[in-house]
Amino acid sequence: MITRRMFNQGLTAAALYSSTSATMTGSALGAEVQASERAEAEAAKQIAPAKASTPFRMGIIGAGSRGQELIRSFLRVPGVSVVAAADVYPLRFQQLSRVCTNDVAHYDDYRKLLERKDLDAVIVATPLGLHGEHVLAALKSGHNVYGEKVMAYTVEQAQAIVSAAGEQKVIYQVGHQYRYSPWIRAAVARVQQGEIGEVTHIAGYWHRNNDWRRPVPESSLERLINWRLYHQWSLGLIAELGSHHIDIANWVFGANPEAAMASGSICRYHDGRETDDNVQMVLSYSGGRRFIFSSVTDNAKMGDQLWLYGSKGSLNLTLEDASFFYEPKKITRAVPVGNGKDALVTSASYAPSSEMPYRGAGKPVDVMTAEDPTTAATRAFVYCVRTGTKPISDARVGLGSAMAVIRANESLRGRAEVKI
Ligand SMILES: NC(=O)c1ccc[n+]([C@@H]2O[C@H](COP(=O)([O-])OP(=O)(O)OC[C@H]3O[C@@H](n4cnc5c(N)ncnc54)[C@H](O)[C@@H]3O)[C@@H](O)[C@H]2O)c1
Repeated sequence: MITRRMFNQGLTAAALYSSTSATMTGSALGAEVQASERAEAEAAKQIAPAKASTPFRMGIIGAGSRGQELIRSFLRVPGVSVVAAADVYPLRFQQLSRVCTNDVAHYDDYRKLLERKDLDAVIVATPLGLHGEHVLAALKSGHNVYGEKVMAYTVEQAQAIVSAAGEQKVIYQVGHQYRYSPWIRAAVARVQQGEIGEVTHIAGYWHRNNDWRRPVPESSLERLINWRLYHQWSLGLIAELGSHHIDIANWVFGANPEAAMASGSICRYHDGRETDDNVQMVLSYSGGRRFIFSSVTDNAKMGDQLWLYGSKGSLNLTLEDASFFYEPKKITRAVPVGNGKDALVTSASYAPSSEMPYRGAGKPVDVMTAEDPTTAATRAFVYCVRTGTKPISDARVGLGSAMAVIRANESLRGRAEVKI
């Protein structure tokens, strides 16, 4: 890993150039090292244990599964209470009484909640198809917002959210909590500082073995509870799972993708759902770089993991850890067929052993934390509101992944590459 100390202590720009990237100039890399260190210093401030414990009153729109998980996380931050909740499904209010010990005002219309002037921030954790309406209304009424990913269901809504957050001068953080994982931050910083050379290819798998269905007490609630399975509310696996990986790819590449190509099908669960259960996607970035993503729902071997491939090594990221692998010194050589000067060298005659994947456990990134990234992300949001600091996962970050999700879904339906 190239640290600022090494950089200042005489690791010259030329050495850096040759040791990390064939295309990046020494000064560009120096600037990247500095930018990466500044980002880490800023992130450390946001993620650190809260010093303030001043009262911080929150409301929530959409107190379902994720909403309640977020509330549990927010309540760990000193001073935070949740005092108001809006939902269209009354069972959620009963469930909330088990999560919050104080009285929580209930609203069946979110606009009533937004009329309150005593809230320091509002959480939006409704189905994706409603994010545009709910986040925009919350921002326009002057509230700070922690809004779940994906930022919005359409490009127009996503762009309107970016504008509204800027015009209202409020804090808006998108639920890309992996930006707040200490092991992922540490690993990505090392990649940005050149440890595995230039990364041109990232692969993400989010493979599960379950049907993605939730039990429904009565059929009239099917679409409300299983909204992920219907186009009206959902952009499918690319949105629900892939958006987190897209966000990490954007972060690593330091850019948003320029084009999306995706393909999907309902392969396994022919149960009336509309969103695909088997999806693959290719996102293209400048310089020919690519992120490929696969999500299937009937085999969990690959689980949830990302692989970053660089000219000098690879990085494996999971929900719990990160490991580096370094390219073997051995060079793959063609094997001559025949003897002497008549020997024929063909690309089909490589020695099989040199084409085998290299295995082993890799070198783990040594960052010890038992903390869930959502805990860090929610704590960081409260810090940002209290101090007026721009969140790490701000509207710009949210827009980057949202645009890719939306365009990849267009590609999936239109069966052609779509410019982003
Ligand atoms: N960041 C993450 O890792 C993560 C994880 C899970 C879910 N999510 C996101 O959180 C959001 C919610 O997902 P979920 O699994 O909690 O869904 P959910 O169905 O469990 O919860 C959504 C809630 O919104 C309510 N709702 C629906 N329409 C409403 C309306 N018009 N007004 C008010 N409330 C309404 C529903 O009744 C429900 O209680 C989604 O955008 C999802 O992508 C993010």
